[in-house]
Amino acid sequence: MPTQAPDYEPRLRELRSTDFPPYFHEHEGALFHSHGDSPYPLPVHGPEWNRLNVQHSILHQLHPEPQYIGVVRGALAPGPEAKLAIDLCTGTGKWAMEMARAFPQAWFRGIDIVPIATRRPLVNVQFELQDVNATPYRWGPGTVDLIHARDIALAVENYTKILEEVARILRPGGLFVSVEWGMRPAGVSPSTGALVHAPSMAHFFDIVKSNLAARRGLQAFEQNTVRDLILQNQDFSGPVTETIQVPIGSWPADEDMQRFGRAFRAAHRYFAAAITPFLSEAVDPVDLNIAIQAHVHEMMTIDGLVTEYYATYARRI
Ligand SMILES: C[S@@+](CC[C@H](N)C(=O)[O-])C[C@H]1O[C@@H](n2cnc3c(N)ncnc32)[C@H](O)[C@@H]1O
Repeated sequence: MPTQAPDYEPRLRELRSTDFPPYFHEHEGALFHSHGDSPYPLPVHGPEWNRLNVQHSILHQLHPEPQYIGVVRGALAPGPEAKLAIDLCTGTGKWAMEMARAFPQAWFRGIDIVPIATRRPLVNVQFELQDVNATPYRWGPGTVDLIHARDIALAVENYTKILEEVARILRPGGLFVSVEWGMRPAGVSPSTGALVHAPSMAHFFDIVKSNLAARRGLQAFEQNTVRDLILQNQDFSGPVTETIQVPIGSWPADEDMQRFGRAFRAAHRYFAAAITPFLSEAVDPVDLNIAIQAHVHEMMTIDGLVTEYYATYARRI
C-alpha cells in the first residue's frame, strides 16, 4: 500500500483529549451529540455503542463474509489506482474497520458528528468529523469507489440531497450501499405460519415515527424507500434491494439464530430506552411507559418476530 492516501488532506488534524468534551452534552443522565443542527435523537454513549456493535455483529454473521462483500468486491478490487471507501454516519466505525481488514489495499474513511470510533484505527482507516448533511464533502468529483450508509435515516435531513452528493463524489461504476431497518414488527408465526400480529409493538413504533416526523422532520424507511429515491436520481443504475430478516427473541430452532434473536431483542429493548428521552419531551410519561411496557411484553412473548433490514445497492453511471 502506498504511504500517502489518495485523499490526503494536510489541513486535517488529530483530536487531542481536550477536544472531545464539546462534541457531547448530557441530558437525563445520557450523553447526546451537541451538534446544533443535526436532527439525530439517540444518545451516543456506551450502551448505544453496544447496541450498534451488536447489530453490526449480527448483520455481519448473517452474511458469509464481511458484509456485502459480494457486491463490494468488484468496487474495491485492486487496480492501477488506489481504492477509496467512505462510511457515512460511521458510529463506532466497526464496518469501516472490518472492511479495512478484509481489503487492506483499499482506504476507508468514516464520517460522523461525534468522535466515538476507535482512536487507534488500522493504517488504512481514518475517522473524520463531518456532518453528513453539510455538503459538499471534502472529496472531489469522481474520486470515491464505494460509499456505505447504514442506519443513517435518523441523521439525514434530506436523503435526495445526500444521494446527489454521493453521485458527485463516486467514480463512474462506483457503488453506493444503503442499509436501513423497518421500524415495525414483521414475521411469520412458526406454529401457525400466519403473519405475526404485534399491535403494541406497532403502536410503539407509530409513536416513534410520528414524533420523528413531526418534531425532527425525519422519515422512517420502508423496504423501497431508498430504491425509489435512487430511481429519481439519473446518475445511478440498477438499484437492487435485498431484505435481511433478523429474529427478535429466542424462538428460532437453530441455535445460532436463537443466540442472535436474544441479543437482538436486548438491542431492541435498549432502543426503546435510548429513544425515551426524546419521546418524553412530547409524550405523556405515563402513556409512554405503558406503551413501552406493552411493546417489550410482546417482544418477550410472541414467536416469529423479526426485524427487516433493507440492503440497497446501486452503481454510479
Ligand atoms: C444509528 S447510528 C449508525 C452507526 C453506523 N452506521 C452503524 O451502522 O453502526 C447513526 C450515527 O449517525 C451519527 N450522526 C447523527 N447525525 C449525524 C450527522 N448529521 N452527520 C454525521 N453523522 C451523524 C450518529 O452520531 C451515529 O453515530
